[in-house]
Amino acid sequence: MCGIVGYIGDGNVYDILIKGLHRLEYRGYDSAGIALVNPEGKLNVYKAMGKVSNLESFCRSKDLDAKAGIAHTRWATHGEPSDSNAHPHFSEDGNLALVHNGTIENYKVLKDALSQHGCHFHSETDTEVLVQLIEYIRVTNNCTLVDAVREALKQVVGAYAIAVIEKNNPDRIIAARKSSPLVIGIGENETFLASDATPFVEYTKDCVYLKDEELAVIERGEPLKILNLENQESQIDVTTLELSISQLEKGGYPHFMLKEIFEQPNTLRDCIRGRVVDGGKRFVLNGVLDNIEKFINAKRIVIVACGTSWHAGLLGKYLLQDMCRIPVEVEYASEFRYSNPVLDDRDIVIAISQSGETADTLAAIQIARRQGAFVYGISNVVGSSIPRETNSGTYIHVGPEIGVASTKAFTGQVMVLTMLAASIAQAKKTVPEEQLEELGRHILQIPETVKEVLKLNDTIERLSLIYTYARNFLYLGRGYSYPVALEGALKLKEISYIHAEGYPAAEMKHGPIALIDEEMPSVIIAPNDHLYEKIVSNVQQVKARGGSIIAIVTEGDKLIRNIADHVLEVPKMPECLTPIITSIPLQLLSYYIAINKGKDVDMPRNLAKSVTVE
Ligand code: F6R
Repeated sequence: MCGIVGYIGDGNVYDILIKGLHRLEYRGYDSAGIALVNPEGKLNVYKAMGKVSNLESFCRSKDLDAKAGIAHTRWATHGEPSDSNAHPHFSEDGNLALVHNGTIENYKVLKDALSQHGCHFHSETDTEVLVQLIEYIRVTNNCTLVDAVREALKQVVGAYAIAVIEKNNPDRIIAARKSSPLVIGIGENETFLASDATPFVEYTKDCVYLKDEELAVIERGEPLKILNLENQESQIDVTTLELSISQLEKGGYPHFMLKEIFEQPNTLRDCIRGRVVDGGKRFVLNGVLDNIEKFINAKRIVIVACGTSWHAGLLGKYLLQDMCRIPVEVEYASEFRYSNPVLDDRDIVIAISQSGETADTLAAIQIARRQGAFVYGISNVVGSSIPRETNSGTYIHVGPEIGVASTKAFTGQVMVLTMLAASIAQAKKTVPEEQLEELGRHILQIPETVKEVLKLNDTIERLSLIYTYARNFLYLGRGYSYPVALEGALKLKEISYIHAEGYPAAEMKHGPIALIDEEMPSVIIAPNDHLYEKIVSNVQQVKARGGSIIAIVTEGDKLIRNIADHVLEVPKMPECLTPIITSIPLQLLSYYIAINKGKDVDMPRNLAKSVTVE
């Protein structure tokens, strides 16, 4: 949800900022803008609708000389995507420029008050209110810019990561955050700031994650200074990044999404490494083992997440109930936070988030902690907000996921949930050791099994041509395959814009079966598990109504092969591991359908990777 980047140093300011914006484009691409302070104290601001490449074209003939600058890629919240609503925003006197990620909830009240003092606004955004407020305080109180920013932020209700520059001071950027991410990269004679570390990882590995309500004063030639809103200086904790530049490139693939689908053998290997040991006999998730009594005595587990992470969470319910015999509820974080939840210190809340920044999931965590629940996080982005807000947790370690449609993060989340359930089951002795050991052995083989599944790529590419122009799809599954159906439908919707519904296969006869005709293809996830016989009947019901069927089945399947129009075979696996391998053909199917339709799979319309607003 909007990406911000800033730079002061001897490098080419414009080039560094534009490259940084490209790296942050996964956060939004409704418009992009840049503010450059040139050596003569002139503030040049350029903006363009749409992607960062449009901004680059717009800037080609412009004065790009600069000593410092800030830039922004937008995912519209307040005000439609337009030039006037694009960031950076100015103070009315043109002295300040500001970029912002987040939402100022009380912007209307502030705007009305500023209007009464004669301020005029040129956009519909909450951000413009903030920059006008800062300048209003600076001028009326005759104070420093740092003090004005502090005072303004005290009046703000909501979430922000901001960067501010001043026309007459090309040597300073002020940045601050609350509930939206911001990280500062410290190089030699240069300093960066960004929504995540990807814009500066090629220049420095040293970074500082700003905490809530902290303000950074970045000055040329001066050490970084961090203050809280009360003007007290904070200690600076420098972290070394583990990210590498090759992880941020397409590596020969046409899209990040395809690269990330094909990375899954490796990402799952990284996810499992050191966590399933002694040939599969033991499960070592430190975040669980360090708190094992809490898990053993848990009265209930509540899983909170959004989107794809919620689908992984639903699988978590099946896994934890099956293996650990603990009641589990799965909640959309956005609903949970306003549902007046009832929790206590014997409840465990598991929050799942790839980005670690999803605003609703963060809010759910805060509510759970206030009520005394133990909160366990499952995230991908190291150093993001969710791992810092939880009591304990596990990283999925699948590397940066840049394609907006989540693929490798989903399988990583499901893998962590499987290992989590297995380690609790091992401690609680709710599953016989031999069974756990067999599961452990299969987990260790998963990277190789996934490689096998990826060999379906060419078949799926050909198959996709038949279904590219379908207007609706149904995705059906039962048991562990039901969340996979939901996830398959979401993948198709979000990148190909085809309407698709995921449904529990047996629910069809209670209504949706009326939708079936020859124009409504169904994708049925039907591996050979304990519900196989049941889903065979459901496949027959669809066929009897003339619907065409793509079925994901276990190698050697005979029954469904004779009914379905197309089958995609995956290797036999223990039931609880099948979602990892059955979800991969669905990722490929949605990818190729979207490609056939000419859609931008890495940046689908209206979406952004990191949802830091409500
Ligand atoms: C879909 C997708 C989204 C995210 C959701 C939660 O492909 O990526 O549905 O899963 O926005 O994001 P995180 O996991 O970052 O909290």
